[in-house]
Amino acid sequence: MDDLKVFVKDVNDAINGTLERLLPAETAYPGSIHSLMRYSSFAGGKRVRACLVMAAYEACGGNFGDDNALKAASAIEMLHTFSLIHDDLPCMDDDDFRRGKPTAHKAFNEALAVLGGDALCILAFEVLADIGRIDIIKEIAVALGTGGMIGGQVVDIESEGKEVDKATVEYIHNNKTAALIRASVRVGAMLANVSKDTLDRLTSYGNNVGLAFQVVDDILDEESTTETLGKTVGRDGEKGKATFPAVVGIDESKRYAQELIEKSWSDIEFLGDKANTLKNLAEFIRVRIS
Ligand code: IPE
Ligand code: IPE
Ligand code: MG
Ligand code: MG
Ligand code: MG
Repeated sequence: MDDLKVFVKDVNDAINGTLERLLPAETAYPGSIHSLMRYSSFAGGKRVRACLVMAAYEACGGNFGDDNALKAASAIEMLHTFSLIHDDLPCMDDDDFRRGKPTAHKAFNEALAVLGGDALCILAFEVLADIGRIDIIKEIAVALGTGGMIGGQVVDIESEGKEVDKATVEYIHNNKTAALIRASVRVGAMLANVSKDTLDRLTSYGNNVGLAFQVVDDILDEESTTETLGKTVGRDGEKGKATFPAVVGIDESKRYAQELIEKSWSDIEFLGDKANTLKNLAEFIRVRIS
C-alpha cells in the first residue's frame, strides 16, 4: 500500500496544479462564483476518480505527465464536484458539511451553488474539448446523463422514504456513482488507445469498483463519524434513503463490497504487474475510512 500512497499523492499534486491553472481566478469578474468553484474544488476530496483515470492510463502504457490525461482527470474531478454541490442542496440531500467544511450553499448561497455547479460542469466540457477527442466527450456526457449519474440521482430522490428492492438500489448505485467511476477508468484506457478487448475488461473493472464505492459510502454513513468522514453521518437513515445496508443489512453489504472488489481484481489479471495500481485502488475503495 505504500506505493499506492505515493501514487495518490502524485495524482493529488498534479490535479491540484492543473485545476489551479484551469479554474478562473477569484479576482476575475464575477468573483463570487469563481470563489465558490475554487472553494469546492480545493476542499480536500480524495480524487479517487482522477486516480482511476491516471492508473488506467498508465496500466495501458500512457505516461503520467501527459497533459491530455491530466486534463481529462481534472475535468472529471470538476464534474464530480459539480455533482456533489448539487447533491448537497436543500432540494436534494440537504447537507451542511462536505469534505470537512460547510457545503457550498452554506458557505455562499443557494443560487450561487446552483450556478457554480453548472459552471464547473460547463468548464469541464470546455477542457475536454481542448483534448480534441469526441469519443471521450461523448463517453463522459453519456455517463452523466439520464442514462447515468442524473438518472441515478432521480431514482435516489424518488425512492426516499419508500421500501425499495435490491434491484432498485443497484440501479441507483450503478447510475448515480458507478457510471462516472466506470467512465474514469474507460477514459484513461481510451486515451492510451487500447484494443476493444482491453477496454471491455477495464469496463467491467470500473463497474465493479464503482458499485463497491457506493456500497462502502452507504456503510460509512452508518459506521463512521462526522469528523472522519467530513460529512454528517446518519443522514441516509434520517432521509429514508435507498441504501444497501437498508435493503440487505450491514454484514451482507460488507460481504458484497468484498465480492465486487475480488471480481474487479480478476477483471484486470490479464494486465499482470501493470495492474498493481488499479488493484491497490480497488482495495483502497473497500477499506477506506472516509
Ligand atoms: C462522494 O464521493 C459521493 C459519492 C459518489 C459516494 P467521494 O467519496 O469520492 O467524495 P470526495 O471527492 O472524496 O469528497
Ligand atoms: C451521491 O451519493 C452521488 C452523487 C453525487 C452523484 P450520496 O448522496 O450518497 O453521496 P454523499 O454521501 O452525499 O457524499
Ligand atoms: Mg445523494
Ligand atoms: Mg448526498
Ligand atoms: Mg452517501
